[in-house]
Amino acid sequence: MAEEFLVVKDLHKSFNEHKAVNGVSFAIEKGEIFGLLGPNGAGKTTTIRMLSTVLEPDSGEVVIGGHSIRQEPEAVRSIIGVCPQELALYEDLSALDNMVFFGRMAGLNGQEARAQAMQHLELMGLVERARGRVSRFSGGMKRRINLAIALMGTPRLLFLDEPTVGIDPQSRNNIYETIRGLRDRGMTILYTTHYMEEADRLCRRVAIMDAGQIITLDTPRQLKSQIGSPDQVTLEDVFLKLTGRSLRD
Ligand SMILES: Nc1ncnc2c1ncn2[C@@H]1O[C@H](COP(=O)(O)OP(=O)(O)OP(=O)(O)O)[C@@H](O)[C@H]1O
Ligand SMILES: [Mg+2]
Repeated sequence: MAEEFLVVKDLHKSFNEHKAVNGVSFAIEKGEIFGLLGPNGAGKTTTIRMLSTVLEPDSGEVVIGGHSIRQEPEAVRSIIGVCPQELALYEDLSALDNMVFFGRMAGLNGQEARAQAMQHLELMGLVERARGRVSRFSGGMKRRINLAIALMGTPRLLFLDEPTVGIDPQSRNNIYETIRGLRDRGMTILYTTHYMEEADRLCRRVAIMDAGQIITLDTPRQLKSQIGSPDQVTLEDVFLKLTGRSLRD
């Protein structure tokens, strides 16, 4: 059996009386791109925030690369990278300075941080803009920098929370290619998106969450075959069938 790099058991988190995450369990294999899907408010970001040690769970167990998030949060932080849903960039700094700053936060020395920053800027097609101020960047460029920052420190597991929201197909394709390349080099990736076609193309397996719980988990093809011929139905058909058509917010 393939090695499980991330194991989540019965995770819970409530805000006041609201159960944002209500008994979530799953595992991600090493080198797998795993999709965490679900309508607005399903609990995806809350789950990612707990797995990345930003938010303390009410209960449940999480082990990443053999380290428990409760007992060894520092060890966990040293092997993960997070690309947050909301852009986390210093608008007044250059792209390079942003990356060096976050690299230093990830424990790199100045020289290592600069070297990695240039390498990742190259990956994102942004070397020419390295010294440009982020405030002048387009939405797509900001998203690519947000992702590049998550790569600082060469994490073994990446959390990507809607990394392609609101950007054009060119930037989106650049991000897909980057993610595939990272996976090919052995990185494990947890990916959230509202673009079902994107999840279908990228993810080996997906979990669909609704109201704090995982309601199904399988390969996109297997999920599609549960409601029809997998070449005729889409993952969006599966999503809407399982989560309903009513608005969530
Ligand atoms: N800090 C918080 N305080 C109170 N409620 C919160 C907090 N964070 C999240 N929630 C609530 O928890 C629920 C899950 O939110 P979460 O952000 O995890 O959803 P999501 O699946 O990431 O949604 P989206 O697709 O819109 O990003 C929502 O009802 C949200 O309002
Ligand atoms: Mg979210």
